[in-house]
Amino acid sequence: MAAWNIGKVVENKQWSDSLYSLYVESEIEPFEAGQFVKIALEIDGEVIGRPYSLANPPHSRPLEFYYVKIPDGLLTPHLTKLGPGDKILVAPRAHGFMIIDEVPRSKHLWMMATGTGVAPFLSILETDKVWQRYERVVLVYAVRTLAELGYRERIDRISANHSGQFSFIPFISREMSDFALHGRIPQAIVDGRLEARAGMAISAADSQIMLCGNPHMVKDTTSTLIARGLKKHRRFEPGQITAENYW
Ligand SMILES: Cc1cc2nc3c(=O)[nH]c(=O)nc-3n(C[C@H](O)[C@H](O)[C@H](O)COP(=O)(O)OP(=O)(O)OC[C@H]3O[C@@H](n4cnc5c(N)ncnc54)[C@H](O)[C@@H]3O)c2cc1C
Ligand SMILES: NC(=O)c1ccc[n+]([C@@H]2O[C@H](COP(=O)([O-])OP(=O)(O)OC[C@H]3O[C@@H](n4cnc5c(N)ncnc54)[C@H](OP(=O)(O)O)[C@@H]3O)[C@@H](O)[C@H]2O)c1
Repeated sequence: MAAWNIGKVVENKQWSDSLYSLYVESEIEPFEAGQFVKIALEIDGEVIGRPYSLANPPHSRPLEFYYVKIPDGLLTPHLTKLGPGDKILVAPRAHGFMIIDEVPRSKHLWMMATGTGVAPFLSILETDKVWQRYERVVLVYAVRTLAELGYRERIDRISANHSGQFSFIPFISREMSDFALHGRIPQAIVDGRLEARAGMAISAADSQIMLCGNPHMVKDTTSTLIARGLKKHRRFEPGQITAENYW
């Protein structure tokens, strides 16, 4: 099998100073919503590849990647320069266990993301399986500023399609807004603001939690949930917390 498929950029949409969505036409083996794939560019004669979550659901094309420009990063400053028709390398197969089939059944599913960590949840939320398996689904999405709360229209559409079953809870940490909760996810679990906003409690009996993005958020939220009686989910030792760290 070839190490890379040659993909073609369809669009590189800029949302804010640092946030982009890259749309790519490429072959890829069938994948599950929530998985990631490596993409790469040849930079100064060297192939530099990084994993990115697929933001598109498995049934739709082009492939979609939501990324933040890391100013001194090796790959992302080069990704921002891509335009329609440019070539990009795409690994043939996606990977990852943050998929609905790996999350135990329960009453409520909480998806908690920071920044671009919302991408795998966007993909999962556009599959039928998640709506068949959970009575209520909550998307918790934390960013620094309102301008960085990408994909609002898509989230609004998901909300409209699943009203009564879906709640969207944005957090904005570095600005005040009348729309989002202020501060960070773990603190809002400790002080009760998150559950009050959702109108339901987090419990080991009724909740499954998926965490994605900043590893400090994943760690702090995991500790907070463990203190509430939940535990990490493992295939052979079922629990309630499934997580993916972006770095
Ligand atoms: C399984 C997996 C899936 C991923 N999916 C995505 C995705 O969908 N979108 C995305 O933007 N990134 C994603 N990442 C991170 C991505 O692989 C790169 O690390 C990132 O784009 C930076 O690459 P770089 O070469 O420009 O920077 P590097 O030179 O590799 O610098 C890395 C540093 O940048 C910071 N950083 C990296 N990623 C992020 C991020 N997403 N948000 C905030 N700070 C970050 C950290 O401080 C990290 O130490 C994922 C990582 C993993 C492991
Ligand atoms: N966002 C920008 O303004 C900006 C601009 C240019 C470049 N960048 C680059 O992009 C990178 C990522 O920025 P980002 O804003 O997408 O991601 P981020 O730094 O992961 O922040 C996203 C959200 O996660 C929260 N968070 C951070 N640590 C947490 C923890 N321990 N527990 C709970 N929540 C936590 C942040 O809250 P806090 O605000 O409280 O930390 C923020 O609300 C930066 O490192 C920088 O290199 C960012």
